[in-house]
Amino acid sequence: MRSSIVGTGRALPARVVTNDELAGLMDTSDEWIRTRTGIQQRRWIEPGDTGVRLGMRAALEALDSAGLAAGDLDAILYATSTPDRFTPGNGVYLQRELGIRSTIPAIDIRMQCAGFVYALSIADAYLRTEAFSRILVVGQEIQSTRMDLSTAGRHTAVIFADGAGAVVIGPTEEPGRGIRGFDLHTEGQYAEKLWVEGPGSLVPPSEWAREQEEGRYWLRMDGREVFRHAVVRMPESVRAALDRAGERPDDISLLIAHQANLRISEAVQKELGLRDDQTYNNIQRYGNTTAATIPIALDECSRAGRLRPGDLVVLTAFGSGFVWGSCVLRW
Ligand SMILES: CC(C)(COP(=O)(O)OP(=O)(O)OC[C@H]1O[C@@H](n2cnc3c(N)ncnc32)[C@H](O)[C@@H]1OP(=O)(O)O)[C@@H](O)C(=O)NCCC(=O)NCCS
Repeated sequence: MRSSIVGTGRALPARVVTNDELAGLMDTSDEWIRTRTGIQQRRWIEPGDTGVRLGMRAALEALDSAGLAAGDLDAILYATSTPDRFTPGNGVYLQRELGIRSTIPAIDIRMQCAGFVYALSIADAYLRTEAFSRILVVGQEIQSTRMDLSTAGRHTAVIFADGAGAVVIGPTEEPGRGIRGFDLHTEGQYAEKLWVEGPGSLVPPSEWAREQEEGRYWLRMDGREVFRHAVVRMPESVRAALDRAGERPDDISLLIAHQANLRISEAVQKELGLRDDQTYNNIQRYGNTTAATIPIALDECSRAGRLRPGDLVVLTAFGSGFVWGSCVLRW
């Protein structure tokens, strides 16, 4: 028995934020952002909206496309590095919002940009060990509410954005179909290359105001280091995952790489020797939505007819930690 993706969904906030709008807030330009990152616009939530609400919209679409109701689920895996609350995680709120009365586990996964791939790997293990058989996997992120929108924050504020994507994992007995394998890694020595220092339990609440004043709440990034590692680790990981599945880069029908930066995705494509029609990018429209980029792209590809039964699909991600990983599956 293998696990396969039996439904997909996505939710993006209605508010479109253009590069020109950002240029009105900080010293940057449409030209700089397009050339360095490929991003033309992104989505931010309206004040008062929540990440869980976005996650719920994506989840309902995924359930609908799977022909299932929320009550049919056995487990929820919720990947986010920007939960609505410190405690508890977004998973339990989603369980509540979906009106699920049974006490199925709703688990938060904190693996940043690789969160969705990690959540998928856990869902796959649960399914194959027959612990659970209908699992909702959500990748959702709200970056816009914790951005430094001054010129000091322009390295990250022009890149990161809000969004949610979801899939439902179910069993398949069709030979060759479904999830074929993973390649997963972390390298903690680079933890501070892309991080949010506070607030955390290292700092008592009495000092939170000072932390905020000193800018420790902002997402901070050494962009060049992240770039340098991402363009090596993603292709390396794709090859390792393909090797384990007994496939080669030539066999890939569609590679969906985490939408960190268009230049990174293009470098990964080149390194793997893939044609344009073997890859998919939507960072131009959505920016980097961290754990949400891959399920959003999967849903777009699925609904646009870019995924046909039997296609070899590879997902790969790299992010803060550093964490990275890939998944190989037959659609
Ligand atoms: C962030 C990134 C686009 C910056 O591009 P870069 O070519 O490395 O640019 P640098 O950081 O060297 O900055 C070049 C110049 O542009 C400036 N700059 C940085 N951000 C800017 C912005 N938004 N607008 C205008 N200028 C900007 C810098 O201050 C620097 O100016 P200086 O030369 O006077 O010091 C790039 O490093 C990157 O994409 N990194 C990976 C980021 C990523 O994917 N993160 C998510 C991983 S999950």
